[in-house]
Amino acid sequence: MVNHFDNSFAGTKQPDTKHGVILYVEDVNVSFDGFKALNNLNLYIGDGELRCLIGANGAGKTTLMDVITGKTRPDTGTVHFGQQIDLLKLDEAEIANAGIGRKFQKPTVFENLTVFENIELSLSGCKSVWSSLFHKLNGEQQDRIIEILHIIGLVAERFYPASRLSHGQKQWLEIGMLLASEPKLLLVDEPVAGMTPHETERTAELLTSLAGKHSVVVVEHDMAFVRSIAKTVTVLHQGSVLAEGSMRNIQMNPEVIRVYLGEESAPEQPSTKPSVITELVKS
Ligand SMILES: Nc1ncnc2c1ncn2[C@@H]1O[C@H](COP(=O)(O)OP(=O)(O)OP(=O)(O)O)[C@@H](O)[C@H]1O
Ligand SMILES: [Mg+2]
Repeated sequence: MVNHFDNSFAGTKQPDTKHGVILYVEDVNVSFDGFKALNNLNLYIGDGELRCLIGANGAGKTTLMDVITGKTRPDTGTVHFGQQIDLLKLDEAEIANAGIGRKFQKPTVFENLTVFENIELSLSGCKSVWSSLFHKLNGEQQDRIIEILHIIGLVAERFYPASRLSHGQKQWLEIGMLLASEPKLLLVDEPVAGMTPHETERTAELLTSLAGKHSVVVVEHDMAFVRSIAKTVTVLHQGSVLAEGSMRNIQMNPEVIRVYLGEESAPEQPSTKPSVITELVKS
């Protein structure tokens, strides 16, 4: 597991965002056995913005997150966190410590620990579960945990073992665990997959509330969800940016219409195509 806890790197080098941009991805190419997963990709994320990334299965969304977090090295291109931090020179742990948190699709909470303890573990700076749980929290740390519990809406469940949480609640807990390390940029891959409509709505509120203090990049296939949270949407197609703009602009973009009507939607995401088409027809 990547260590999100040691902030020493972030403490010494904050991303320089005076131009209003927290992430610069420029001319990035990634090939897997000759197949171009990312193709001259350019993406800029504003400081404090909430950006949605959409695109068909295989468009390169997860690969892009892998590049940003150091899991995959691009063949060519540059990736900077703020103006000066060259992410391609850092390994995965250093990137996490620099202030980039990633939430994978599957929640990875400690099932046998309580909700509170899960967050405590992320906050404490201790490297092992046991040393962390025997470490006495100071008042400030306790306050921070309570604050996070409020943000993720799990105050009432704080003494439940995580195993008792619903799928959606586990996703929120994991977001809370990420927040403990105070990431500047949060990458969230398909947060509402498998959630009930109510959980989806609350996740929209949660992610919206994080923007401003954090920059958030959300990959999602659920178009109703994207519409509910996004100011700017980036459409990836075959490893490149096909279109970028408001949801309304995206839906009227002829290239997007062609791609979505032509080849979008995998069988396991049946909601993608109908909702986009409905939107297109309406507009
Ligand atoms: N490690 C890998 N080795 C080989 N091919 C890969 C690897 N990772 C991704 N790919 C391929 O790169 C392309 C982009 O994949 P990626 O997972 O980034 O798509 P995605 O946009 O996240 O799709 P989805 O919406 O299905 O999650 C796909 O064709 C995928 O099969
Ligand atoms: Mg993916």
